[in-house]
Amino acid sequence: MARYGPNEHDVLIVGGGGAGLRAAIAVAETDADLDVAVVSKVYPMRSHTVAAEGGAAAVIKENDSLDEHAYDTISGGDWLCDQDAVEAFVHEAPEEMLRLEHWGCPWSREEDGSVAVRSFGGMTNKRTWFAADKTGFHMLHTMFQTTLKYDPIQRYDEYFVTRLLVDDGRCQGVAAIELATGKVEVIAARSVILCTGGCGRVFPFTTNGNIKSGDGMALAYRAGVPLKDMEFVQYHPTGLPFTGLLITEAARAEGGYLLNKDGYRYLQDYDLGEPTEKPVHRSMELGPRDRLSQAFEKEDQKGRTIEGPYGSYVHLDIQHLGEEVITKKLPFVRELCLKYENIDPIRELIPVRPVVHYMMGGIHTDINGATPLEGLFAAGEAACVSINGANRLGSNSLTELLVFGGRAGRAAAEYASQKKEFSSALPALQTDESNRIEENFFTDKGGNPDTVSSIREEMHKTMEDGAGIYRSEASLKESEAVINDLQERLQKLSIQDQSYTFNTELVLAHELSYMLDVAETIIQSALQRTESRGSHQRTDHPDRDDENFLTHSLAYKADRGSPRIEYKPVTITRWPPGERVYGS
Ligand code: FUM
Repeated sequence: MARYGPNEHDVLIVGGGGAGLRAAIAVAETDADLDVAVVSKVYPMRSHTVAAEGGAAAVIKENDSLDEHAYDTISGGDWLCDQDAVEAFVHEAPEEMLRLEHWGCPWSREEDGSVAVRSFGGMTNKRTWFAADKTGFHMLHTMFQTTLKYDPIQRYDEYFVTRLLVDDGRCQGVAAIELATGKVEVIAARSVILCTGGCGRVFPFTTNGNIKSGDGMALAYRAGVPLKDMEFVQYHPTGLPFTGLLITEAARAEGGYLLNKDGYRYLQDYDLGEPTEKPVHRSMELGPRDRLSQAFEKEDQKGRTIEGPYGSYVHLDIQHLGEEVITKKLPFVRELCLKYENIDPIRELIPVRPVVHYMMGGIHTDINGATPLEGLFAAGEAACVSINGANRLGSNSLTELLVFGGRAGRAAAEYASQKKEFSSALPALQTDESNRIEENFFTDKGGNPDTVSSIREEMHKTMEDGAGIYRSEASLKESEAVINDLQERLQKLSIQDQSYTFNTELVLAHELSYMLDVAETIIQSALQRTESRGSHQRTDHPDRDDENFLTHSLAYKADRGSPRIEYKPVTITRWPPGERVYGS
């Protein structure tokens, strides 16, 4: 039996954000004898979960119900959610949130001391738990410190994974570059869980941190695992125009208004209800994100937005909430506005525009996070379980990473307990990976004008132009051609920085290659879905087509060129497809 010394584990988790840390704790709690490790390209507290603001949804109040949470999620997802997964999600959500409280998460409280909840877009009742507007920071911090209690949880901080090690039909670990030394290491594991987050950086204007480059999605895709529902890209309606920083939906939940250039609450013109002073659930500013972002585009076409140096925008007005509410419940909104826009939302309007925020699609998994590749699991935004369908409701994703991070951890622990032997081919795979990196990036290919940033810029442009809020066959075909060309040009790229110590250019080149793979799946899945549903709006096919497309798309890597798309029916349990009605 081959051994890999200290770099051998029962369960290896790639990614140290919320899903990864929740999975690690689940492994340690399932079987204290299992050895579990977390490998992350950044220190775990720098993972993008830390940036989440508004809150996490779970039924807790008496006037609410699990069925309403399920229905809101399913209708919000335009009936593309697997309803068995949604039912599991809403059932397990409250206990996950209470568990986090017991681990120390400082949830905001009501006057009577009970957990406070706020409204969120597309939700029938107040069910979003929050810690002011820094919810992700507090959740991640809570989980990070909890992992420190468990001796079996080891960490590889600042290791960048470049390949899944697959032999004998199963995933047996990863190859990763230790960033401090440039050494390519094998980290062998009986099961691997990908928790690497989303891929918003495929687009130019996003709330996502630079690290969200679809790494896990691309690694799985290259190993033959399909990416599911990749055409569904969520635009959040309120990002700051220059930086793309998120102005949380909580600002609208507390009563903020969206105003066009005439100071008019334009959402009343888009089947989202009548303006009221106090926010009304599933109405106006509390409608779902896809509808609000599409309304912005229409408003823009009508010339009713404001032209700015970073594109057109509208205003978010929270002045009427008053200083006390803003400083107590939305302190981070104020801080971001002051620091990045030089405005004070207590007395000024906030400029906002739609911004890429979240991927509904991801690595195809079952309800326990298992992918079709033996030994490989996934959870969090990297995965598609799928509870988000064609449009995720705000505040479902933080809870999703708890519920399905936990489930994936338990399933991966169970699989690892079989203690299958490692195959003797792993050292050869390590050598192979080392050679590939050397040849691909450290060999001067001569006379190539491309750089990582030039290719990335073209990718950004074509993704925004061709696969943004509205798409068409023509726009997608054009983007397909550009991405195929960029894929070829990337093969000829060599990097300038030839050092091995913290070679950030090498990391950026790998991230770019991941993003191009993810981009081709977004484009091809969008091209072949000739209907409009949720966040996927085809100007040439404006209607939803349940007869042909009540199905998940599965994008498989092809030997050359664009991916192959297959389809899998959506699981319907209790809620047959219906019309999405908001505003009444
Ligand atoms: O607006 C927000 O706070 C975002 C929340 C989410 O995406 O779940």
